[in-house]
Amino acid sequence: MFPLAGTLLILAITIIAGAILLRPAACRAHGRGDGDHHAHGHGHGHGRGAPPDRDGILLVAFGTSIPQARAALDNIERRARERFPETDIRWAWTSSMIRRKLARRGEVIDSPLIALAKMKEEGFTRVAVQSLHTIPGVEFHQLRETVDIFRRGHHAFGHISLGPPLLASHADLERAVDGVIAAIPPERRVDEAVVLMGHGSERHAADLLYRAAAAAFAERDPLVLLGSVEGHPDLDEILARCRERQIRKAWLLPFMSVAGDHARNDLAGDDDDSWKSVLARHGIESIPMLRGTAENDRLVDIWLDHLQAARERIS
Ligand code: CO
Repeated sequence: MFPLAGTLLILAITIIAGAILLRPAACRAHGRGDGDHHAHGHGHGHGRGAPPDRDGILLVAFGTSIPQARAALDNIERRARERFPETDIRWAWTSSMIRRKLARRGEVIDSPLIALAKMKEEGFTRVAVQSLHTIPGVEFHQLRETVDIFRRGHHAFGHISLGPPLLASHADLERAVDGVIAAIPPERRVDEAVVLMGHGSERHAADLLYRAAAAAFAERDPLVLLGSVEGHPDLDEILARCRERQIRKAWLLPFMSVAGDHARNDLAGDDDDSWKSVLARHGIESIPMLRGTAENDRLVDIWLDHLQAARERIS
């Protein structure tokens, strides 16, 4: 009985002494002395195994240079905080042009590369990255390349996953179409058109999703017409439809996450080539509704469901 108790006592003293002596010694060896054993992140865990998991979310939007349009991104962040209250949320914008524009005004917004490097530096180990784009086009694929840098080797997070943009499945498309149609103001009469402006892409095959979305909108309501700035369907197709149906009035809405530069200028601006001006020359009066899809909670839920699935893949 004594030998066993004695052995246990010696073992206990050894463990306690080891804990007291080794931990501060290891910390001092790095010249820190901040006493925060896990937060100074030099990455080898003092030889006592991996550091504890720290979860993070990185929300990635195209970005906007229009201050009022930020309300849409604020809405996504607010809804994400409600849904994932325990998790730190960071932001990055993919448009370098917009980031440079804001930097000239004194506001620095991170690229995905910088944002992930900072999160790595801060000691995050599990990161779910969520694309807030509409289609998996050029911006999304560049984001995916960036995320891949943090999957292997020296820069790798323990776990990282990437949630796809708004339209990533047929179910997403149906939900998005229903959500947009539900948000059309009740004052719109059945003989009035609803003209939606998507961004579109002349550089990526994912532009075809706008064609699919346009068909899905038309199936629900033949006078809800989706076109895009850069891709197809284009404004000429919308005009042809309006002519056929002898439309006199149209509600204009962006089919983009934010009601930014495209919505305020290319869609509803006063320049000769805005959609509003072109429609006016065709005898159609316009009522602009400057509300991004990220201000529509039913669409925000699609993005956040993708984020939740991305989190589940790494938990
Ligand atoms: Co654009």
